[in-house]
Amino acid sequence: MLDTATNRPELPPEIARRRTFAIISHPDAGKTTLTEKFLLYGGAIQMAGQVRAKGEARRTRSDFMQMEKDRGISVSASAMSFDFGEFRFNLVDTPGHSDFSEDTYRTLTAVDAAVMVIDGAKGVESQTQKLFEVCRLRDLPILTFCNKMDRESRDTFEIIDEIQENLAIDVTPASWPIGVGRDFIGCYDLLNDRLELMDRADRNKVAESISIEGLDDPKIEEHVPAELIDQLREEVEMARELLPALDPQAVLEGHMTPIWFGSAINSFGVQELMQGIGKYGPEPQPQSAQPREMMPEEKKVAGFVFKVQANMDPKHRDRVAFVRMASGHFKRGMKLTHVRTKKPMAISNPVLFLASDRELAEEAWAGDIIGIPNHGQLRIGDTLTEGEALRVTGIPSFAPELLQGVRAGDPLKAKHLEKALMQFAEEGAAKVFKPSFGSGFVVGVVGALQFEVLASRIELEYGLPVRFDQSQFTSARWVHGEKDAVDKFVNANKQHIALDNDGDVVYLTRLQWDIDRVERDYPDITLSATKEMM
Ligand code: G4P
Repeated sequence: MLDTATNRPELPPEIARRRTFAIISHPDAGKTTLTEKFLLYGGAIQMAGQVRAKGEARRTRSDFMQMEKDRGISVSASAMSFDFGEFRFNLVDTPGHSDFSEDTYRTLTAVDAAVMVIDGAKGVESQTQKLFEVCRLRDLPILTFCNKMDRESRDTFEIIDEIQENLAIDVTPASWPIGVGRDFIGCYDLLNDRLELMDRADRNKVAESISIEGLDDPKIEEHVPAELIDQLREEVEMARELLPALDPQAVLEGHMTPIWFGSAINSFGVQELMQGIGKYGPEPQPQSAQPREMMPEEKKVAGFVFKVQANMDPKHRDRVAFVRMASGHFKRGMKLTHVRTKKPMAISNPVLFLASDRELAEEAWAGDIIGIPNHGQLRIGDTLTEGEALRVTGIPSFAPELLQGVRAGDPLKAKHLEKALMQFAEEGAAKVFKPSFGSGFVVGVVGALQFEVLASRIELEYGLPVRFDQSQFTSARWVHGEKDAVDKFVNANKQHIALDNDGDVVYLTRLQWDIDRVERDYPDITLSATKEMM
């Protein structure tokens, strides 16, 4: 029997033991280090340092990856599965840079919880705040890890206050740090009445854990220096008086976050956090879909694509669609219906991502992430089922904030350019618009850096030098309405009309005034900045 805060007897045990989550943090807070320790304790890697080492071996492969490294951003996201105790963890990597917010948003639709990592000296930073807000939109449960406690950090109450105030969420301490900076010796585990003592001499050694009976247990004196004991007792007493106690239901509803203090690099506090994810984190949750929700316990298999990554291996022009299993028990070789095209698809070589190695997935349960190699049939937002016409909802596509025209350096290569652009559009890396006038394409992205990334990828993966130029347009809006109304609108506004990569009609402009005018003059038409991907 699993020791968990939730109890949904309808879930098959294989599903109930799954925890699918992402880590959200500001760059440099320690996400990579924490991920590495997760994998280490999950038995997915043998030695700390492997994730980074592999990452570097991969990065040296190309200039583009070099750019990624120079800028300290992680562009290639993936999913990793590993066991911890009786649990199966599926960790979905979120791209860290703010330029990739749309991708990140979609990644967060594939998880049931998030681990928020903050730096004990810096508190809540801008990127954490943004990502937190995305989690909030979906009421995702959040567990917090306050990292780098081995260094000078802020006062514990101050950190907790800052989270409560900036993020408007109740914070309950799961552990309490003993001493700060150089004097930091470990934590008092408030949930299990244990002292966890950090070993500074050996970064890979797991903390010594000493069971005690409350803070008055004389055993404390053997382990904690006298000058820290009184402070610890006082602070914990205050914390218990002033801060809310752990309410597992409030955690599951996303109103409360438990916080663990630790030091990922010193392997400290990580296992307690992992135990917390198992115990207080949610099992696979229902997924919103039309015309009905998909429930994890359903016998029939269903899943949806939340990410597409092309050219993971530059030698093969394959694409991998990352699929979040939403229900049932999937077995390799199953035939599923691709709901958008109504065509059957035999899923014969799905992959599970164990650390950074791919492995064939013989089976998968609701909650798991599998990769399906394909030649472009699978797009973001697609649903796979055993026949029922369900469509996952809530995977939006945002209107790009920056638009540029694009040309191939060699005009004879225009067709190749189109192919490359379509591929990146399907990956969700850019929006590609084909204006109904003139030739060429308009490409839209969310952050300026993406133009550079695109240009290097097109050159690297397709051998095509390209130039991005200023476009006469600055905004794009999707056009919605009855067919007749849309046709009339399109005919009267040809100089502004384009089709996106799915063939949907888009209105391009450089003036908010134009958008206001359309809304006033065409009451049957709506212009929107988001589109559901399906
Ligand atoms: P990120 O993925 O969130 O960007 O952070 P990452 O894990 O790469 O960590 C950022 C830096 O913080 C790294 O140092 C890492 O070693 C350090 N770090 C992570 N956890 C802790 C901790 O608990 N305590 C301390 N003191 N430092 C920590 P770096 O110098 O950038 O890289 P490296 O040379 O150490 O690899």
